[in-house]
Amino acid sequence: MRITFPPAHERLGAVRIYEAGRIIELDSAGDSCDADAQPDHAFLSSEVLEMAHRDLTIVVPIKNERRSTLRGVLSGIPGGCKVVIISASEHAPIDRFQLEREVVDDFVAATGRPVLHLHQRDAVVASAFEASMPELCDERGLIRQGKGEAMLMGAMIASGLGSRAVGYVDADNYVPGAVNEYVRIFSATIASARSDSTMGRISWQSKPKVQDGGLVFNRWGRSTTVSNRVLNELLSHYLGEGTRIITTGNAGEQVISMALAARLRFSGSFGAETGQLVDMMEQFGGIIQPIGDVPDRVDVIQTETINPHFHEDKGEAHVSGMRELSIATITASPICPRHVAEAFPTSVAAPVRYPAFADRPALDVEHIQKVGVTGLDP
Ligand code: GDD
Repeated sequence: MRITFPPAHERLGAVRIYEAGRIIELDSAGDSCDADAQPDHAFLSSEVLEMAHRDLTIVVPIKNERRSTLRGVLSGIPGGCKVVIISASEHAPIDRFQLEREVVDDFVAATGRPVLHLHQRDAVVASAFEASMPELCDERGLIRQGKGEAMLMGAMIASGLGSRAVGYVDADNYVPGAVNEYVRIFSATIASARSDSTMGRISWQSKPKVQDGGLVFNRWGRSTTVSNRVLNELLSHYLGEGTRIITTGNAGEQVISMALAARLRFSGSFGAETGQLVDMMEQFGGIIQPIGDVPDRVDVIQTETINPHFHEDKGEAHVSGMRELSIATITASPICPRHVAEAFPTSVAAPVRYPAFADRPALDVEHIQKVGVTGLDP
């Protein structure tokens, strides 16, 4: 694989947010020597990528998606990666969780690859999290609903499995080849990282929609367009000059090195993606007093894909709800300047923010495996 990592970045304290790189070759032949001649290109041989895949747990959050789409997503995840599917799908009137389980069982039987498939509202799963992150549990003692909650669960499970990094791919992606590209980018990002605290975020090449009977290759999604603006205005305020460097405000596809994931205070629901950027700026941006040690550098690597992002369209009401939550997460931050918050009012409260799991007791992954599908060795 040949990928560019442009040196241009904006810097806020220890946080460096890099201009989006791009893919030159998805699959390259040769050994790594020729890469050294080109400073902002990384060349990753198949062997290097395969080793990097083994350090990665891929978390797939899912809520009532089509079986065929899930099947495609699983088939796109490179073989070496561990896979954890966290489901919030309904049990009634149709048991969609059980339908997913059949897809997972077939995949495991055909490939011999272990996959952990668990339900977010499972009591056994909740009891495993009770000791490490009781904040995740509701008054019934079950894990709260929400995509951000599933992402935090996934990061803690990946940590318990000993992975070097956790990556996320949505379960509603129609194009398995795109999923494959995302995970290759994740591995390339972590394998080329210059810091233990690195996050890779996917910037879609386009998000096609059917419009007037034709395909329109929109550059940005309806939510990302606004959340990028809010984040860039916040950043511009502290830089003292305008920037448009953030192109991945709502990037659901992302990878986080474990050292960084454990320090992040994940936002719940659809605040997760914008919340990560805000939290890094709060904790490591030098604007307000840090909570703990500040790493030398925290790198945010954005990469533009070569594949379009083709996913299930859930309608305008869904998108506007999500957009509100992701913006409220930014404007509720103590570092958000008043003029930015006033320019982007929302009608919803910011989602809950969870504590970092770095100093919490390790999760009992074996306990969770009792209800999941198969043998991922902790
Ligand atoms: N486990 C779990 N729990 N999964 C969920 C939940 C939940 O409560 N809600 C949604 N999901 C799953 C969906 O099934 C899908 O696989 C993925 O999370 C993304 O959710 P969508 O509802 O499809 O979001 P989107 O694709 O329209 O939204 C985009 O913006 C969001 C907000 O920033 C994507 O980039 C999302 O990944 C992103 O979170």
